This record gives sequence, structure tokens and C-alpha cells, in this order.
Amino acid sequence: MFDKQVYISRRRRLKQQLGKGLLLFLGNEESSMNYKDNWYHFRQDSSFLYFFGLDKPGLAAVIDVEGDKDILFGRELTLDEIVWMGPQPSIAEQAAGVGITDVRPPAGLADVLKNYKGLIHFLPPYRPENIQKISEWLGLSLTAVKEGASVPLIKAVVAQRSIKSGEEVRQIEDAVDITAAMHLAAIKGARDGMTEAQLAGTLQGIAISGGGNLSFPTILTVHGQVLHNHYSSTVMRTGQMALCDAGAENAMHYAGDMTRTFPVGKRFDSLQREMYDIVLSAQEAAVAALKPGILFRDVHFLAAEKLVEGLKEAGVMKGDVKEAVAAGAHTMVFQCGLGHMMGLDVHDMEDLGEPYVGYTDELKKSTEFGLKSLRLGRALEPGFVVTIEPGLYFIPELMDLRKSERKYFDFINYDKLEAFRSFGGIRIEEDLLITDTGSRLLGKPLAKSAEEIEALRG
Ligand code: GLY
Ligand code: MN
Repeated sequence: MFDKQVYISRRRRLKQQLGKGLLLFLGNEESSMNYKDNWYHFRQDSSFLYFFGLDKPGLAAVIDVEGDKDILFGRELTLDEIVWMGPQPSIAEQAAGVGITDVRPPAGLADVLKNYKGLIHFLPPYRPENIQKISEWLGLSLTAVKEGASVPLIKAVVAQRSIKSGEEVRQIEDAVDITAAMHLAAIKGARDGMTEAQLAGTLQGIAISGGGNLSFPTILTVHGQVLHNHYSSTVMRTGQMALCDAGAENAMHYAGDMTRTFPVGKRFDSLQREMYDIVLSAQEAAVAALKPGILFRDVHFLAAEKLVEGLKEAGVMKGDVKEAVAAGAHTMVFQCGLGHMMGLDVHDMEDLGEPYVGYTDELKKSTEFGLKSLRLGRALEPGFVVTIEPGLYFIPELMDLRKSERKYFDFINYDKLEAFRSFGGIRIEEDLLITDTGSRLLGKPLAKSAEEIEALRG
């Protein structure tokens, strides 16, 4: 946990931002996996962690803005729970650690909400039990709860959480270093005949050893063209490339998220190498363009242009590069976004809504194929942490569909594309902090060029 002053000042700032009202924050509960007491790994809600720091299930809190009061609701462990789970600090002791002195049993929360005369603000709940609780407490239908989250509270939370403080950046770098260790193990450990799952299992061990856990389910696959293909029992073979997109969250729940693509054998073949270098040049150009004020959407377009430029040299694409990107022809091979914010969530604050996190009232998210998957479009600011993760993904079903639609004939040499039917996909991803003048790579550098990767495979 950070020093209690950190949490006190975050809550104080929230009160200043909102001006009035009652702010309701729900922590997460344990969640059952296949029978009631066999739980998923517990993960606290990230906004609850940000403002209240406490990493335990079953907590809730309110901030009374006019009354200048922060109240924590939670119950002490029963003797049975102590027998099974051991002793814990009392709720009052835990609350004191984050600067809260007003601690009440959970049953008191409904009364506080009922007796409050002003506006009650809550963030968009994503867990069924929290949707249910708000519905009961506020007398709203489940649909009304889903639609009733407070836009002023969302905007205030996003404004604070988007700008990472020095102590947060240190936590993120810790997570990125653990993440890099996972990738180093994957690049060094892959062998012909091994299954994707065998390799992915060793990575999860490194994440847990780092003090936290995975920041999202590992994507480790020789079918890298499938954007979120999780590991499976597929056997990896020399001649294929493995795409590993994996990350750790550290003990404080800050995330890392990196991707490397490497040969299952010792070397990339010549076509793999040619495509790898194209993705690398797009990734490096995007990183070099990062600075305060630039629209992330424009950095996305820049990366797309670099990909098209490279594919033009390879004979796969043709025509004017900018016109190709304006027409969306790059979405044949780059169907997703360039990156996203990262912090306490790997896709930071995605629960609060992409229109508020990645876009603004003036800059709305596009609904077009490709751009609809760009999670971040807005102008960058110092203190943002973002991922840069361009890729090339050759998806036979998409090639066939676009050809049958007679789309992009001015920009794509469909005959040349045929050679890529079983090519797979390549992605390279790093995590960066936006600084006053540009950006800074987070974590210790990890092999990225084809030569560096092959040296590790050697
Ligand atoms: N690393 C997975 C993603 O960014 O979606
Ligand atoms: Mn990512």
C-alpha cells in the first residue's frame, strides 16, 4: 500500500472535482468458480484500490462531499473464518492505514444511502452482485443501474487515474520488469514439440513469483493471426513463429503488458524476417512519435502507414500509402488498435467506458472496422502510460471476404497475399510513459530486433 496521505489526497481531490453529492464505491466480493467456496483468485476493483487501497473482499465506502466524510463499510471475520483463514487486522486498523476513521458494519450502508437527500454517484458496476446491490439499495431496475452510472464521477476518476504519479510509475515499472522476465523465459524456453500450454504455464509461475499474478490471460500461440488466441495444447513446431502477449500485475496490482514474436526454431525464415522488420519499423516509428498533445489516433495511423509502406516494398500492397490508410486497406492486415492506457488495469479503466477513457466529448470513437478496436484516440498528456503494439495478422477468412467484396483492389495485390494463408501473425508490444517532451520506455529493455531475438534462440 502507498502511504495513507496518498489515499487521503486522492479522495480530497475527488471531493473538489465533484463539489457535492454522495460518492458510492463498491469493492469486489469473492466470486465462485464451480461451487460456492471454490473461488476465482480474488481481484479487488481498481478504482476501490485507487481511492481506498484495501485489497480485501466485501468492502464498500462512501465519500460524503458536503459533509467532508469518508466512511468504510465492512465486517470483522467470524471465528469460523479465523479458524479457516487465520487472523486479520480489524477493519478499523485496516481503515486507519488509508486515513479513514469512520468504519461501520455493512448493514449501515443501505441506511446512509436511504437517508441521503442529494445525488448519489456510482461508477459503472461490472460484477453481477454489485449491480444487484445497487439495484436494491437505490430502488433501480437492473437496466437502470447499468445505465445510471454518474458521468461526472466517471470523468473525475478518469482525470485522476489517467495521470500516473511517480510512485505509480515505479509500481508499473516493477510489473513491467516481471513481465519482461516472463518474455525472456518464453523466448529462451520454447522448443519444437512443446505445447503452447507447457510454455504458458512457466510464465504464470514467474508472474506469481513476482508477488502478484497475471494481468490478463496469457496469449501464447503459433496462430498469432488470431488476436486473442489463448494458449492451448497445440504442439509448436520448428518453422512456425510463436506470438506471446503476456503480462504480470505486481503485488500492488499495477500491470505490465508486452508482446514478443519469435521463431520456434533458431531463426526466422526469410519471409518471417521481412514481415518482422516491417512490424518493428512501425513499432519504432510509433514510439518515436509519442509526445504530449499528439492524438493517439494519429500515432495509430502513422503505424498503419509504416506497415503499408513495408508491405508495398514486399509487393503485397500497392498505390499511395496515405490513400491506402485513408481507405482502410491496412485493416486487411492490422485489424485492431495500436495500444491502450495501462495502470491498475491492463486496459486501464476500461470498466469506466472507452468514450471517457480513450476519447473525449469532441473526439468520438469511430465505428468502422479497425478503428472501432482502437481503445485510445485522444491527445496524450504527460503521465499517461500507454502500450504500443502494432502487428501484421494474415487472416484467411478476412482475405477471402474482402476479395469477394472486391474491396481494396487498388491497394492490395491479392495474388501475392495468397502466400500468407498460413503465415500467422506478428506483434511487438512495449509499455511507455508520456513525459513532458516525449516518452520513456518502462522497465528494463528486452530483446526486440530480429537479431536480438535470434541470439536468445541460438
Ligand atoms: N495484451 C492484450 C491486449 O492488449 O488486448
Ligand atoms: Mn496490450
